[in-house]
Amino acid sequence: MTWWRDGVLYQVYPRSFQDSNGDGVGDLNGVTSRLDHLAWLGVDGIWLSPTFPSPNADWGYDVADYFGVHPELGTAEDLDRLVAEAGSRGIRVLLDLVPNHTSDEHPWFRDSRSSREAPHRDWYVWRDPAPDGGPPNNWRSAFGGPAWTLDERTGQLFLHQFAAGQPDLNWWHEDVRQAFDEILRHWFGRGVAGVRIDTAHLIVKDRLLRDNPPADETDHPYIRRRGWKPIHTANQPEVHDVLKRWRSVCGEFDPEPVLVGETYVLDVRQLAPYYGAGDELHLAFNFPFVHAPFRAETLAGIVAETEAVLPGHGWPVWTASNHDVSRFPTRWCAGSEALIRCALMLLLTLRGTPFLYQGDEIGMPDGEIGPDDVLDPAGVRDVARTPMQWSGEAGGGFTAAGVRPWLPFGDYFACNVATQREDRDSVLWLARDLIELRRRFVSAPYASLEAPAGCWAFSRGPGIAVALNLGEADVVLDLRGEVLLGTDHVRAGRPFDGRLAPAEGVVLARSQD
Ligand code: GLC
Ligand code: CA
Repeated sequence: MTWWRDGVLYQVYPRSFQDSNGDGVGDLNGVTSRLDHLAWLGVDGIWLSPTFPSPNADWGYDVADYFGVHPELGTAEDLDRLVAEAGSRGIRVLLDLVPNHTSDEHPWFRDSRSSREAPHRDWYVWRDPAPDGGPPNNWRSAFGGPAWTLDERTGQLFLHQFAAGQPDLNWWHEDVRQAFDEILRHWFGRGVAGVRIDTAHLIVKDRLLRDNPPADETDHPYIRRRGWKPIHTANQPEVHDVLKRWRSVCGEFDPEPVLVGETYVLDVRQLAPYYGAGDELHLAFNFPFVHAPFRAETLAGIVAETEAVLPGHGWPVWTASNHDVSRFPTRWCAGSEALIRCALMLLLTLRGTPFLYQGDEIGMPDGEIGPDDVLDPAGVRDVARTPMQWSGEAGGGFTAAGVRPWLPFGDYFACNVATQREDRDSVLWLARDLIELRRRFVSAPYASLEAPAGCWAFSRGPGIAVALNLGEADVVLDLRGEVLLGTDHVRAGRPFDGRLAPAEGVVLARSQD
């Protein structure tokens, strides 16, 4: 029994989870005050999006001090208390490690940019301008524009794959590697159970800084939109040296902390190497799944391929929402509650570790962001970051009545935790029932079963089957057994006759025939 393998993880976006002091910004004491909800739901661990001091050029993903806590979120003692209070409820806490870049206000970068001879100069990636005065290569920032900004003081450009306030570290430099070993040791020593590693696939860049080639029709739509194949900026062989090094730091602690990588690759065959020989990441996010359309055939295909390519020691991860994409109730389900129930059933019954994003458990849709509300440097992700909807009272249970939250509220009257807690047939209770039920077959093998078009059926060992009709027609499956849980909450305990209406799903105890 390994907690992160058998359990359910839950992503908390601290600024939007719970405000404890009425300033409109969620904080660590707020998270602590909501642990009972997470324990009730059956969550085994939480991943906190960045908690470190940050000028918020990218909302915490620009870290100015890896050992501190952002004053808006609380203090180091608040974090210790959160870890302890979570621990007493059987919930582990993961932090968000951001190793690809720091804030431009981090003391390392302040020193680095001060002169060409500064001790930290080579901790970042500096180059002379091209002969025409432009950037040294064609690399682009994920937020648009060149990945290089000229720093007048020393006449060189620094690399930033994200905002200019997020200069990339030079992971070829041994001192950078050592500095992060110490950051990990610090937090693991303080009781943190692991880290989610931001852009784990990007940290080491081509040493020669060669141009990336243009994308073509063989690329995933996401890559095509960006315009280039990231062959010299992502998935460099040397990234695996760094991951092995971190895994061995984990090995210094008992119990061993968990490394969860934001491995943003769009081909599952590129995902497998991140598990190493059982000596790199413990868990690696599956973005082909996140970015797939909500179609049975497509999703089942990605799951089958993942099952086939991951090494025996590689445990899959399934997630549908996070702080960077439109929430699945909107993106996949267009607000249909029946489809939201199917999506939760799917996430929570596949073989692998599910990561829920805050609000997934109530089917919370995207927030509405007006042009004046945009805070995200990429301009599109605020919809997923609006405050958690706890109740229908003024302030949504997130903050005090009358307080303006840092991002606008969604419709907390229509969708909130308190109302759904009162309703045994709600999405929230379904999520909880699924989390409890999955423990019965958590390590059973996955195998797909024959199913009509639009439908996805699979077994979890000989005893359990899951069938989901994501299509628009009634279907009849050649599958019998006793319904353990249905998306509609009505069929549990009844025999299954093989019939599924559109947007309906069941978990069955199979008849042994
Ligand atoms: C990751 C984070 C995202 C951030 C980016 C740069 O993708 O999830 O929020 O903008 O890395 O740190
Ligand atoms: Ca606050």
